[in-house]
Amino acid sequence: MNDTPLVVLEQPEPGIHLLRINRPQALNALNSATLAAISAAAAAVAADDAARVLLVTGSGDRAFVAGADIAEMRDLDPVAAAAFSQAGMRALQALEMLPVPVVALVNGYALGGGCELALACDWIIASSRAVFGQPEVNLGIPPGFGGTQRLLRRVGRARAMELVTTGRQIPAAEALTLGLVAQVVAPESVLDTGLAVARTLASKGPLAVRLAKQAIRCGADLDLANACAHETAQFALAFASADQKEGMSAFLEKRAARFSGR
Ligand code: COA
Repeated sequence: MNDTPLVVLEQPEPGIHLLRINRPQALNALNSATLAAISAAAAAVAADDAARVLLVTGSGDRAFVAGADIAEMRDLDPVAAAAFSQAGMRALQALEMLPVPVVALVNGYALGGGCELALACDWIIASSRAVFGQPEVNLGIPPGFGGTQRLLRRVGRARAMELVTTGRQIPAAEALTLGLVAQVVAPESVLDTGLAVARTLASKGPLAVRLAKQAIRCGADLDLANACAHETAQFALAFASADQKEGMSAFLEKRAARFSGR
């Protein structure tokens, strides 16, 4: 029996969670058990009031995630395929719905379900060796973990259509020009860059970061007027916090703010 964990959730520094997909022998391909482990890890982060940020990466130096597990999918019937897709949707939505920012550190191949996993994160920092793509059409299927929809919303309809229908794989530099990736760094700097970003996030008003994320996440699916009304509610809520008084007092008193997260 192999008791290697399918995902590893660590806390390298206070408030900073790091989730590693851990099947390097299969280039971190997502099977059902790994999807369930991702959902459980997301629930653990959601339950941690002291969480400030989640970083998501892949084990090994070749892949972030090379897709949904093709060996598991090959013999599925349509009912089982729907359940597999829904397990993927659940895991990725659990990450997307987290109250804290989630940053993908894409250290290699992010194909199919791997690209979809990265897209479910709030933004992507990529190794210069990373490769992105939705190659499912090569296997006779369309994407099934939200790729058609999140890619559409991230890079626009024509780009999403081209990438999904051709299965073309793109290097990190092109992903940057498409706005799919926020930053490209040297392969050996991916984790350090992610940790530096995480420290920056952890130094801000925790409630403010959560409210800002919620305003952007919910507003993205609303019309502008309702999205702005939602932003007003998030803005007003911040004024119930000690952090708002502290942040503004610290500015006016020309000193660094000491946020308590309350
Ligand atoms: N599902 C299951 N196993 C996978 C996998 C996936 N999505 N991607 C890679 N693996 C496995 C391979 O089967 C291989 O296992 P083995 O050593 O037992 O034979 C191992 O990971 C290494 O992959 P391999 O193909 O030998 O590496 P490579 O360097 O030649 O190619 C890729 C790397 C990423 C180009 C290639 O693995 C690939 O095309 N993977 C599938 C990508 C894909 O179509 N994803 C969408 C799935 S919906």
